[in-house]
Amino acid sequence: MNSSSVSPFIKWAGGKRQLLKQINERLPEKYNRYYEPFVGGGAVLFDLQSANAVINDINSSLINTYNQIKNVPVEFIEKLNELDKMMWEDGKAYYYSLRELYNDKLMKSEFDVELAALFVFINKHCFNGLYRVNGKGLFNVPYNNSRRKSCEEENIIETSNYLKKVTIIQGDFEKACQNAEKGDFIFFDSPYAPLNPTSFESYTKEGFDIESHERLAKFYKEMTERGCYCMLTNHNTELINNLYKDYKIDVVSVKRMINSDASNRVGEEVIICNY
Ligand SMILES: C[S@@+](CC[C@H](N)C(=O)[O-])C[C@H]1O[C@@H](n2cnc3c(N)ncnc32)[C@H](O)[C@@H]1O
Repeated sequence: MNSSSVSPFIKWAGGKRQLLKQINERLPEKYNRYYEPFVGGGAVLFDLQSANAVINDINSSLINTYNQIKNVPVEFIEKLNELDKMMWEDGKAYYYSLRELYNDKLMKSEFDVELAALFVFINKHCFNGLYRVNGKGLFNVPYNNSRRKSCEEENIIETSNYLKKVTIIQGDFEKACQNAEKGDFIFFDSPYAPLNPTSFESYTKEGFDIESHERLAKFYKEMTERGCYCMLTNHNTELINNLYKDYKIDVVSVKRMINSDASNRVGEEVIICNY
C-alpha cells in the first residue's frame, strides 16, 4: 500500500513511531476507509498511507498545519526556511520572539501559512517537541537550545502529495468518525490514561480526563456494533484494562524516558483490537 516514504513533519507527545511494527502486525487484512481521530504527528498515518483516509485532531493549530502543507506546500517551505535563515546569533531570544509572534497570531485566530510555519519552527526548537498551553491558551514551552533546520523540503512535498488524498477534520473524535461504516478501520490513539491514579494533574492532562476515557470506550463499543475494525493503544493501566475487557488486549513493551514518579508499569502499552 505504501508509496513514497514520508516522515512526520513534527515531533509529538505520544508519537507511535516506536510501536509501528506491533501495529502493522495487527492490522485488519482488508478494510475500506482509514480513520485516525487523534492524529497528532501522524506516525501511523504516514506509515500506512492508506488511499482513503480521514484524519482529525482537536488541536486547531496542528490541523491548520496539515491543511497548509496539503494546499500550499511551496509557500509553507519558503516561510519556514525564511524563519530558519533569520535565526539570530542569540537563538534563545529569537525562539522567544517567534513564540510571542505565534501566540499573538493564535489569539487572533490567524490560521494561515505563516502560523503553520511558526508552529513547526517552535515544535522543532522547543523542549521535547511538547505542545503545552497555559490557562489563557498561550503556548509556553521553553527553548531546547538547538539551531537545527526545521524541515526537509522533499519530505514536505511528499507529505503534501499524500495529504491531497486525505480528508482533514478539526474537532472531537466522535464527530470525526460519525460517517464511519462497516468495513472501515479506526485507529484510536487518544491522550494517555494516567499511570499514577493518585496524581490529580495526570487525570486532566491534555484535557482528556477519566470521563473522556469512558466516553471513548463507549464510542469504541458503538463503532464495534457498527461493524468497523477498531484498534486502540494506551498505557497498560487498570482503567484501560477494565474499560476494554471485552476485547483482545495485547501488552507490548516500549522504551520510554520518563520521570521517577512513574509506576512500575512504565514501558508497557496495550494494543486493543475488536477483531
Ligand atoms: C497520543 S496523541 C496522538 C499521537 C499520534 N498517534 C502520533 O503518532 O503522533 C493524542 C492526540 O489527541 C488529541 N486530542 C485530545 N483530545 C481530543 C478529542 N477530544 N478529540 C480529538 N482529538 C483529541 C491531542 O491534541 C493529541 O494530538
